[in-house]
Amino acid sequence: MRILYVTSEAFPLIKTGGLADVSGSLPAAFRHLGEDVRLLIPGYPQVLSKLRNTRPLLDLKWLPMVGNVRLVLGEMPETGVPVIAVDLPQLYVRDGGPYLDPQGHEWADNPLRFGTLSRIAAILASKASPLSDWIPDVVHCNDWQCGLTPAYMHYSGSPCAKSVLGVHNLAFQGNFPAEWVDRLGLPHEGFSINGFEYYGQLSFLKAGVFYSDSIATVSPTYAHEIQTAEYGFGLQGLLATRSKDIHGILNGIDTDEWDPAQDAHLPQTYDSRSLNKKEAVKLALQQRLSLNQDADVPLLGVVSRLTSQKGLDLFLKCAVPLLDQGCQIAVLGGGDPALEQGFLQLAHAHPQQVSVTIGYNEPLSHLIMAGTDIFIMPSRFEPCGLNQMYGLRYGTPPVVRRTGGLADSVHNTTATSLANNSANGFVFDLPNTKELLTTIQRALSSYGNKVEWRQIQQNGMAVDLSWDHSAQEYLNIYRSLM
Ligand code: ADP
Ligand code: GLC
Repeated sequence: MRILYVTSEAFPLIKTGGLADVSGSLPAAFRHLGEDVRLLIPGYPQVLSKLRNTRPLLDLKWLPMVGNVRLVLGEMPETGVPVIAVDLPQLYVRDGGPYLDPQGHEWADNPLRFGTLSRIAAILASKASPLSDWIPDVVHCNDWQCGLTPAYMHYSGSPCAKSVLGVHNLAFQGNFPAEWVDRLGLPHEGFSINGFEYYGQLSFLKAGVFYSDSIATVSPTYAHEIQTAEYGFGLQGLLATRSKDIHGILNGIDTDEWDPAQDAHLPQTYDSRSLNKKEAVKLALQQRLSLNQDADVPLLGVVSRLTSQKGLDLFLKCAVPLLDQGCQIAVLGGGDPALEQGFLQLAHAHPQQVSVTIGYNEPLSHLIMAGTDIFIMPSRFEPCGLNQMYGLRYGTPPVVRRTGGLADSVHNTTATSLANNSANGFVFDLPNTKELLTTIQRALSSYGNKVEWRQIQQNGMAVDLSWDHSAQEYLNIYRSLM
């Protein structure tokens, strides 16, 4: 099967969050299963410099507002997955991130940057594609950035590949002023409730939801949640009409990149039979973060975007009672300035117990995952979440809220789940400080029981978090469309 996987970020080329992890590892799993997959991604400087064996692939003539576009073919480092990069410096080569300028504001021309990506995906998806020796059977386009792809395919006038919209986060919809309809060369007839119009704006994500052949979200629970008013961010009605086309497939992880037995970022590797070696990582982490070096105090970890989605304001509010009990806290993240300030003030007031690192730091994220005892992830909503899975794999049991992929991947510790060896973390229901604090207290009490704790750690480390099963489920969806 020929699969074109369209994404705005992919690890290790460029990453702002979990979408990059998935875009780096799922296509590699398809390739492993013998499928002919190619990634399509903007040619940001990081992408062009990290791709291997790049060569010109195709020149596209005269796209609206951007002119001629060169496509470059290269390969992913490590996995060798073929990648088509859109080499268009006027849109993609600039300082800052893929979505934000260096001051943290969205690029004003994001509709053009990602509309062009979507349009190129649609051109390659057409049976009349100028890339005639590689015509895909399925185009899997991810999140709002690629959401216009199925709309362009619909209006292309040619038969096309089947389209699947991957929904990683419904909170980001790519809604822009109506004047972008003309600028992006979209037909006016599509600017209606039965199309890409959303309350008078052009909505990239709604376009994807409306025009795609199938919709895949990143966990079974989230697939249900997005059809409700509480989690649907206004699209629940439309999503409910497409209920039979919505699939929830739990993300896998890259089990090579995230493996405590061979992680080059750790001063000491370990596995489920040598968990005593995890202590050396904890001591190194405490030293690195200037916390009191003490193997016995419970060390709580956070690696996250600091936004209201992640519920870390709740954690900030329960921090003091936990510190009074002797806990330590290590936070790595960035985002909402008020939350950043709140955590920085906490660290300032408790320098030997709290460390807060603001910013993005790949090696430190591995060290925190391995060196802490308990991973905290009290998300208000969480389409899938990868960090709780990294926590499971690193013997760092997670405390999570029962929502989305957290509900599908973490099994609460109870007498029953301990007895049948499924207990691997701590789960609560309501997003409030009291429930979070009570649940962390439960985790601390298990942590105090060395035998029970080791069992919970080993249960988590035994879970199959690989893509093997989920990649096959995606292929089943693709096949059912063809
Ligand atoms: P989301 O995509 O919603 O942010 P996920 O849990 O799916 O949440 O994925 C987040 C990914 O980004 C993980 O790989 C996590 O380790 C990484 N990450 C988040 N914040 C940071 C940070 N400050 N430094 C390094 N990695 C981070
Ligand atoms: C989004 C979601 C996160 C998910 C990731 C990868 O960023 O917020 O829950 O794990 O996409 O699918």
